Amino acid sequence: MTDNGNPCHIAIIMDGNGRWAKKRLMPRIIGHRAGVKTVRKVVEYCVKEKIEVLSLFAFSSENWRRPKKEVNMLMELFMGTLQSQVDKLDKNNIRLHIIGDKTAFPDSLQEKIVSAEKQTEKNTGLNLVIAANYGGRWDITQAVQKITAKVTAGEMQAEDISESVINDHLTTAGLPEPDLFIRSGGEERISNFLLWQLAYTEFYFTSTLWPDFNQTLLADAINSFKNRQRRFGHTGEQIVDSLNSKNQ
Ligand code: IPE
Ligand code: IPE
Ligand code: MG
Repeated sequence: MTDNGNPCHIAIIMDGNGRWAKKRLMPRIIGHRAGVKTVRKVVEYCVKEKIEVLSLFAFSSENWRRPKKEVNMLMELFMGTLQSQVDKLDKNNIRLHIIGDKTAFPDSLQEKIVSAEKQTEKNTGLNLVIAANYGGRWDITQAVQKITAKVTAGEMQAEDISESVINDHLTTAGLPEPDLFIRSGGEERISNFLLWQLAYTEFYFTSTLWPDFNQTLLADAINSFKNRQRRFGHTGEQIVDSLNSKNQ
């Protein structure tokens, strides 16, 4: 949390594109395209509010189960958006991180990802994390594999494995944990997003479909966050006492 009470890290499941299009009797891809416009508005707002990290769930490891046509169109949309937006992100001092199992993507997309991350790596403003072919269970599994390889190579001992070692091997290593989690579209579930990282995050659900989500609704979610008491296992009285002693 920052001094003004804003969350440092906001993580969003952008859900409801398909239903938004269906309501208008349009193909699902139109909903996904409209969803990209919302992403631009949300990023703009986070830059303006000096949010440190914004994580967006773009494609889950389970989304491959969708019809092939939709998967292909989503890949094209992802690639096209990356290509057309990277210079603008760079100009706005935004650092891009793409997390997920990138090996499943076509080579051309993998190359674009590497070059976009490289182009923006020195930027010091908003960290924009795009989760693509991401699954929380996959993230933990790949961390376990990396750690096990180090133990096998004799670089570390099994008893050295701690929560912070696991943190350091997740794809979000180096980034603060999400303070605020938002899911649009009315479903109230995590759908295998940042499982480990969301342990103490505040949750906010809205029935608004993602293409209809906007800066005012994001401000509402942030305000709801600001009015919560985060206890992290303490009692409410302990939190009030520590705030009072800080303010003295
Ligand atoms: C979220 O919208 C975007 C992706 C999963 C890529 P959906 O496509 O899941 O939209 P609904 O849930 O069908 O409305
Ligand atoms: C979660 O949404 C994944 C993304 C937003 C990318 P889904 O629409 O795929 O989630 P489920 O299947 O309803 O849980
Ligand atoms: Mg959905």
